Amino acid sequence: MKVAPSILSADFGKLAEEVRAICDGGCDLVHVDVMDGHFVPNLTIGPVVVKSVSNVATRPLDVHLMVENNTFFVNLFAPLQPKYISFHLEEEKHPHRLIQHIRSFGISPAIVLNPHSRPEDLEYIINDLDMVLLMSVNPGFGGQKFIPSVVEKAARLKDLILRKNAHALIEVDGGVNDTNVHALKKAGVDIVVAGSYVYGSDDYGKAIRSLQI
Ligand code: DX5
Ligand code: ZN
Repeated sequence: MKVAPSILSADFGKLAEEVRAICDGGCDLVHVDVMDGHFVPNLTIGPVVVKSVSNVATRPLDVHLMVENNTFFVNLFAPLQPKYISFHLEEEKHPHRLIQHIRSFGISPAIVLNPHSRPEDLEYIINDLDMVLLMSVNPGFGGQKFIPSVVEKAARLKDLILRKNAHALIEVDGGVNDTNVHALKKAGVDIVVAGSYVYGSDDYGKAIRSLQI
């Protein structure tokens, strides 16, 4: 299991230090939550701050867009060359087009599904994706409770990926800890995002390693 700590739960007053600490702690990706105050009822950081994050991060960035105007935000973040940019299926009229647009920057495209969305809706675009991010909380805030139905959803998504001979990885985001990570692993999940579990611990490296099962 790969681990992408979410910097949403970091102390933004010492962000560079907090980013260095998870990279030194052995994380696989640095998860960056971008919220616009419209798609979700919270507002986070833009490209100016994320540029500073990318300057100190020694692991690739995983940018999770929770915004209304996806193309506008993709264009803002593409120059920072994150490894992944993910956008919500629920907020995009032309997902297939946006996937190609993200790929045109040399960035891996990913789609995010909210708790109510069905993996089957990805049937005809799954082969174009490098990753699918399943939300295990409602997007907008760190520190929420894990929604257990995501485990079955991940298993169904894994079946779809195998059936379509697709290469997309499965990432799960929200309320992940060292207990529920085992069921996620069994369901075929490749990457977990963990915000409060990592940043709320005394030893980030130890918390990260406890998820790398
Ligand atoms: C929620 C964000 C998550 C969040 C995860 O909208 O997408 O990445 O920061 O935080 P925890 O692990 O605390 O649920
Ligand atoms: Zn996220």
